[in-house]
Amino acid sequence: MELLETAKKRFSVRSYTDQKVEPEKLNKILEAAHVAPTAANLQPVHLIVAQSDEALAKISMAANIYNAPLAIIVCADHNKAWVRPFDRKQTGDIDASILTDHMMLQATELGLGTVWVCFFKPDVIKKEFQLPDNLEPINILVIGYGKETPADSERHVTTRISMKELVSYDYL
Ligand SMILES: Cc1cc2nc3c(=O)[nH]c(=O)nc-3n(C[C@H](O)[C@H](O)[C@H](O)COP(=O)(O)O)c2cc1C
Repeated sequence: MELLETAKKRFSVRSYTDQKVEPEKLNKILEAAHVAPTAANLQPVHLIVAQSDEALAKISMAANIYNAPLAIIVCADHNKAWVRPFDRKQTGDIDASILTDHMMLQATELGLGTVWVCFFKPDVIKKEFQLPDNLEPINILVIGYGKETPADSERHVTTRISMKELVSYDYL
């Protein structure tokens, strides 16, 4: 599938069947994360794959993961992240989000549903997964087989701002 086709097809799935994600598919999703770019290639990222009932229950204490059979906590490592010298901006969140997006699109291409979750209690995730201080959970990517009717690939014409509003050429 062409990338733009996959990107248009993707939509947030908030209802899942019990069907587990096959290990081969999970591995491909993780490989998509592995090849993602990070600032200065410092790779200040760590993924926690939650598949067991115990791990999923722990995540569910912090977030709504819509009873999905798989969720990946994408963490940024603040000890390793690149810092822009001019204003000390750290790019760990950006790096973590690039990995998340790679995985989300790969999962879509494999016929899986996903939803990107940021509405979670970080303190609960940190406690339940015993994260060290340097690891911050940035995103949770929820994955599984969706129960919902697929969204219209052409919906962005009405659900996104116009290209005119989005893009400026040469000046603001
Ligand atoms: C950074 C980010 C955080 C999000 N957090 C949540 C969330 O916590 N819970 C949720 O159900 N959806 C969440 N979403 C999904 C968005 O609501 C959704 O992508 C947006 O409404 C567009 O709809 P679509 O994904 O179906 O195209 C998040 C998406 C992004 C990119």
